[in-house]
Amino acid sequence: MKIIGTGSAVPRRKVTNEMLTEFLDTNDEWISTRTGIKSRRVLSTDEDVTQLAIKASEEALKDAHLDATDLDYIICHNVDNDYKTPALACVIQGAIKAKCPSVDMNGACAGFIFSLDCANGLMKAGRAKKILLVCAEHMTKLTDWTRRESCVLFGDGAGAVILTDEGPDCEISLSTVYSDALYCNASTKETPFSHQEKKYDKLSMKGKEVFKFAVQSSAHDIQQVMDQAKVTADDVKYFVLHQANLRIVDAIKTHMNQTEEKFPHNIERRGNTSSASVPLLLDEMNKNGMLKEGDIVIFSAFGAGFSSGACLMRW
Ligand code: COA
Repeated sequence: MKIIGTGSAVPRRKVTNEMLTEFLDTNDEWISTRTGIKSRRVLSTDEDVTQLAIKASEEALKDAHLDATDLDYIICHNVDNDYKTPALACVIQGAIKAKCPSVDMNGACAGFIFSLDCANGLMKAGRAKKILLVCAEHMTKLTDWTRRESCVLFGDGAGAVILTDEGPDCEISLSTVYSDALYCNASTKETPFSHQEKKYDKLSMKGKEVFKFAVQSSAHDIQQVMDQAKVTADDVKYFVLHQANLRIVDAIKTHMNQTEEKFPHNIERRGNTSSASVPLLLDEMNKNGMLKEGDIVIFSAFGAGFSSGACLMRW
């Protein structure tokens, strides 16, 4: 499996740390030093995550020089979106005028890797040759804007890739260990048969526990895919990590004993966009001409579940 096109889209509104101090007891110094984040893009009244998903998908198709009718499958990954049903992937399919099966997945912040695994499986089973995988996230509607320890972290955005089966084998490692350290309940309504109305709960997070899991799981998953591919960290051109916290990226870099340039980041401008963060960053790298044919790239992402995964691919 190989990536032959990338695309991304972010909301117009930029929210700086300074702007958050207008309604939150926080400051730029705390947010910058603890997380690396300086600003994030946030969806506001006149934009929605569906538009971002469609724009990122169209860009990725253009970059791959493909028509939407060339697609055999669309996977849209998201934690939440504008619809309960149909899947956001179906809405994207209609908008871009594709004619293939389309479905949503939810693997939280590690979702890009879980979706890559499913795409790889579809290709190996001979079910699809060209797949659009788009991760589109509206995290700022799930965050509790009174909880300063979590709301400062998140941003919105979408990142898309076009995958083809005409490529070398990739290596994937996944894991899930249930934990309540990061969760967000869905709401339920009363029915004639159930009187348990549950209000929509906002995101709840035990920051230190999540931080520890992130560093341990990412280091483990990366080592796993390098072992599977029989390569060492020195052979890898880039480690493209989930943009959750710059200190997490730094910890992995130190653990791997590799140089700064191998760990690209955009968290300072984007915040944590959940599953969209890796494909968003990848699209920036692609547009900046950082990727050359044959480069070994490792993606690693982690989050609620706890779920985590890494994927080693050749560009
Ligand atoms: N502004 C100012 N102060 C804040 C604050 C904010 N936005 N958020 C928390 N604080 C305060 C706390 O109240 C605490 O104050 P106290 O010492 O008086 O009690 C202090 O800062 C330290 O908080 P602490 O929780 O120890 O900070 P930390 O070093 O663990 O950093 C996180 C907090 C959230 C940045 C960090 O734990 C983290 O990034 N965890 C991973 C989260 C993550 O990645 N989630 C998504 C995964 S997909």
